Amino acid sequence: MKALCWYGTGDVRVETVQDPTVVNSTVAVIRVTSTAICGPDLHLYDGYMPSMMSGDILGHEPMGEVVEVGRDVKKLKIGDRVVVPFTISCGACWFCQNKLFSLCDNSNPNAEMARKIMGHSPAGLFGYSHMMGGYPGGQAEYLRVPYADVGPIKVPDGMPDEKVLFLSDVFPTGYMGAENAEIEPGDTVAVWGCGPVGQFAIQSAWMFGAGRVIAIDRVAERLQMAATHGKAETINYEEIDVYDCLMELTAGRGPDRAIDAVGSEAHATGIGGAYDKVKQTVRLESDRPHVIRESFKCVRKGGTVSIPGVYIGFADKIPLGTMMNKGLTIKTGQTHMQRYLEPLMQKIVEGGFDPSFIITHEVPLDKAPEMYKAFRDKEDGCIKVVLKP
Ligand SMILES: NC(=O)c1ccc[n+]([C@@H]2O[C@H](COP(=O)([O-])OP(=O)(O)OC[C@H]3O[C@@H](n4cnc5c(N)ncnc54)[C@H](O)[C@@H]3O)[C@@H](O)[C@H]2O)c1
Ligand SMILES: [Zn+2]
Ligand SMILES: [Zn+2]
Repeated sequence: MKALCWYGTGDVRVETVQDPTVVNSTVAVIRVTSTAICGPDLHLYDGYMPSMMSGDILGHEPMGEVVEVGRDVKKLKIGDRVVVPFTISCGACWFCQNKLFSLCDNSNPNAEMARKIMGHSPAGLFGYSHMMGGYPGGQAEYLRVPYADVGPIKVPDGMPDEKVLFLSDVFPTGYMGAENAEIEPGDTVAVWGCGPVGQFAIQSAWMFGAGRVIAIDRVAERLQMAATHGKAETINYEEIDVYDCLMELTAGRGPDRAIDAVGSEAHATGIGGAYDKVKQTVRLESDRPHVIRESFKCVRKGGTVSIPGVYIGFADKIPLGTMMNKGLTIKTGQTHMQRYLEPLMQKIVEGGFDPSFIITHEVPLDKAPEMYKAFRDKEDGCIKVVLKP
């Protein structure tokens, strides 16, 4: 089959690789019909994620048609259309039983590697380094899906791929980002980052009863989308000081809730930005935590900072004094995908919510390498790329 493989920083290629097979009784194989490029793929593309190996297949936002099932798979049959969430979860361990699916204790075969760094291992993830399980990803013609009765959700007949594909990650991730922000009716919510995760965090903030949503980015078309689709007020952080502007908009109080939908590759101007760039270049820190600093400073006293943005390892100059003395609540995590699949599918099927508004590019798999570059560099108005294998 054809698959998008990683060969090093900035080097991804479509290659011919072995087809996946049913290796045990609980897996399924799907023929991928649509698959997207996502923010976390950029951490691999940009070389910031440790434990990648030459030839690894990328991608964690796939959907398709079931073509093979192991003999113990009960919920799926050949021919079913499914969306596959990016987290791999066993469904049986203590964490899965407590709906902490992205913290599954059984799905990472390389748990030891993660344990050495973090003390414990989170769940395995598709196409996201060997420390996270070394699972081949979904930017390919076929994908092996472990624990096939636990992850995938069936797609109703007649529903186009584009409307349900983002249940694989960015819609639930934006939604959990808003849920973690502990929004109360009428709250002012500031969202850093207007990529796909930020766009769905904005949409979801309204679903949780926000009174006002303020979106921050510097890319014109992303701010535009936040304003038109997201009905958010917008701040271009290259044009105005974010702290000053948020204080002006909230009469000095600060937003009640902050959502960091940017993560470890935050862009920043000034001394802080230069400091992170230098330290990251010489590998003295793995993340650029600019948005952590800025959101801690801006959010109101006693407020909540929700962090769906991905951080990888170690970073510097985190304002712990601000966090402590302002009495902030911090909530974060890889999305507990399986919690949200059913309710968010209902919002699409019954509620008429259409997540396809974020798609700006739909291209064959062969074009993936150039699309990685366009997505990273925000060229050609690129916000979300769907690949058609
Ligand atoms: N928690 C999870 O399970 C999960 C799942 C998917 C994605 N993510 C993470 O969410 C983040 C966003 O993902 P995405 O797909 O939307 O990525 P993206 O790269 O498309 O979007 C990031 C946006 O942040 C903006 N940005 C950069 N610096 C900024 C700053 N200082 N202030 C405000 N905005 C700034 C960029 O211009 C860009 O529009 C990434 O870190 C990604 O890894 C987390
Ligand atoms: Zn994703
Ligand atoms: Zn589990």
